[in-house]
Amino acid sequence: MSPSIRPIHPVFVAEASDIDVGTPLSPADVAALEAGMDRYAVLVYRDQHITDEQQMAFSTHFGNLENSRGGTIARAEDRRLQVGMNDVSNLAPNGRPLERDARLRLFNLGNMLWHSDSSFRAIPAKYSILSARVVNPVGGNTEFADMRAAYDALDADTKALIEDLICEHSLMYSRGSLGMVDYTEEEREMFRPVRQRLVRTHPVTGRRSLYLSSHAGTIVGMPTPEARILLRDLNEHATQPRFVYVHTWRRGDIVMWDNRQVMHRVRRYDESQPRDMRRTTVAGDAPTAAQVA
Ligand SMILES: [Fe+2]
Repeated sequence: MSPSIRPIHPVFVAEASDIDVGTPLSPADVAALEAGMDRYAVLVYRDQHITDEQQMAFSTHFGNLENSRGGTIARAEDRRLQVGMNDVSNLAPNGRPLERDARLRLFNLGNMLWHSDSSFRAIPAKYSILSARVVNPVGGNTEFADMRAAYDALDADTKALIEDLICEHSLMYSRGSLGMVDYTEEEREMFRPVRQRLVRTHPVTGRRSLYLSSHAGTIVGMPTPEARILLRDLNEHATQPRFVYVHTWRRGDIVMWDNRQVMHRVRRYDESQPRDMRRTTVAGDAPTAAQVA
């Protein structure tokens, strides 16, 4: 049986059913899901109770797994999951919620800002695939915003203004906006800003979209306050309720999104209780802009 894909939002997002994510997919299944992603940008799968190995195997149908190095301040002794899995839980390796003042917890709060995964990498991510293993009892919804619809709805003057702008993205910009400004020399080097186009074009559909992210902190050739006001305006525009889908998690849900077409954020939850969410990331294949040497 081939997967069925049914839209669940007026602008984007579909639910994929008649598919078992834990088993190898046929080329036709993969093509159907990729086509669903190109059209809807976010696919929701329900009742998929999978292991980390199954999640990684499913993800590699869509490309190589991204190397997670450079995306976190977590040290080896903080690691709870194997290489290939991004831990976006609130848990320490002992399985208990991180302490309130744990630096890693504070860093991870940046996921509550609107962003696109890995926009701080010179070659940013293609898909993210997030599996709900333990759902928090209070809050913790993930929200998605359609950056194609947001681009389409801009006025002509704004489109012309931003057409060729290049932003600089860094984890230090997103965390800096939360008041987290102290980094080691090694972290500063790891989080060195990268350049991304502000308007990008989808390689398959040709649709244009705003490439926004809280990691974007400057625009090349523009004074920083002016750049940040422009980015703030664009973010407000792009995250209006009409462009947003709110996902309320159930255990066993998988949500897969195209970071080239949407932004997302998690909402606050009860951090005294576990929230075990595990992400795999499918690497992108090209930069959006030339980097400085
Ligand atoms: Fe994220």
